[in-house]
Amino acid sequence: MFPLALVEQIQFCYRNPSAVEATDDFLTLPHLDEPNILHSLRVRYNQGHVYSYTGPILIAVNPWRQVEIYNINVLEAYKAGKNKAPHIFGVASKAYSSLVGNRKSQCILISGESGAGKTESTKYVLQVLTAVGENRTGTSAAIEQQIMLTNPVLEAFGNAKTLRNDNSSRFGKWINVHFDRKGTIAGAEIKTYLLEKARVIHQTPGERNYHIFYQVCAASAQQKMLQDLGAASADVFNYSKTCTPPLPPSPPPLPPRLCQVLQDLGHDFLRVLVRVHCSTLSALPQEVGSGVVLVGYVHVPAE
Ligand SMILES: Nc1ncnc2c1ncn2[C@@H]1O[C@H](COP(=O)(O)OP(=O)(O)OP(=O)(O)O)[C@@H](O)[C@H]1O
Ligand SMILES: [Mg+2]
Repeated sequence: MFPLALVEQIQFCYRNPSAVEATDDFLTLPHLDEPNILHSLRVRYNQGHVYSYTGPILIAVNPWRQVEIYNINVLEAYKAGKNKAPHIFGVASKAYSSLVGNRKSQCILISGESGAGKTESTKYVLQVLTAVGENRTGTSAAIEQQIMLTNPVLEAFGNAKTLRNDNSSRFGKWINVHFDRKGTIAGAEIKTYLLEKARVIHQTPGERNYHIFYQVCAASAQQKMLQDLGAASADVFNYSKTCTPPLPPSPPPLPPRLCQVLQDLGHDFLRVLVRVHCSTLSALPQEVGSGVVLVGYVHVPAE
């Protein structure tokens, strides 16, 4: 028995009949409130469904494991409009068909707490948009590939391991994908903002600096070019030695194209890294920025 005072504080809700609680679209639930939504999400997740709709809103539950729902067959089914079950591919395909059909710009807003799966979802959206664009001409593969290739570079410079997410985006981004009149991708622009600057020189215990520092340091063991630029083991530098050796999963390997960019940019590895960071950090003049990692060499003994 609960004490009477406690019973008065408990909020009672009507529960949906079990026959409908695992519905695809929560708008069809007789009782649509937070407890019922959470309950239905749990029931659906236990049945193997990661996604659910509430009208036009897609709710995703991060499975934190590999799920076989993103392969090319599934993508083709959504592209062709044959599969209507809730899925991120469905949202992206719908946005594309509305764009082509109504000739009006479309927007997909992805939100959630850290580790919810926003970055992964964005990649799936781009995968669909590049796939539909590709199919319509068969010749625009280069642009689509370039759009997909920007991800590892952006993540290298803007993502870091935090206590909540091994690949946490520490910057905001707005992606504009442009289509021509035929519905083929004509280009894309990515605007980044709000980079977490403080992370470059300070990381909370258990967290790490941006992936790029560790990727370049790890790659320096094999690549003479990086050694010549001054790269060495990550635990040499004050600004990257937290959390080394890398906790699993290791940072993704340095993309070859990025390696080439570093080579082209100049011969001072430290300056290159900080310059690229500072190009996003408009608040810091470049010359100040160039010194940031150099200062990281200096060891200040505790008093
Ligand atoms: N659809 C998915 N299938 C399998 N695993 C997933 C999926 N979405 C996310 N994950 C897992 O969750 C991790 C965190 O996801 P993600 O980096 O997208 O979160 P986020 O919302 O972007 O977090 P942050 O705000 O910190 O950047 C991924 O690295 C991946 O391991
Ligand atoms: Mg993210």
